[in-house]
Amino acid sequence: MARLVKVAERSDIARGGKLVVELDDMEVAVFNVDDEQYYAVENICSHDGGSLGDGRIVNSYEVECPRHGARFDIRTGKALVMPAFEPIEAFPVTLKDGGVYLTVDW
Ligand code: FES
Repeated sequence: MARLVKVAERSDIARGGKLVVELDDMEVAVFNVDDEQYYAVENICSHDGGSLGDGRIVNSYEVECPRHGARFDIRTGKALVMPAFEPIEAFPVTLKDGGVYLTVDW
């Protein structure tokens, strides 16, 4: 059943910034692309486990894995650039009452 989980305050993530949060036993990287657009993906590259929260954002919506340069669309989790080809999980983000909430399905 889907549930909404608060993972941060909006003020915890500066515009253009990111934050790695714990979600149950998973790490999730939350990106503040601009003040009304936040995205969240699991913090594990599907190529070989790189920490995407340590990667840089390119082309507005792509995170580049710091290990071997794979890129993922942070809106969908889709793998865009090799060496990764499997998607990663993306979580819908809701902003309310000054908080950042993720919808999780477990
Ligand atoms: S671990 Fe991310 S590109 Fe290899």
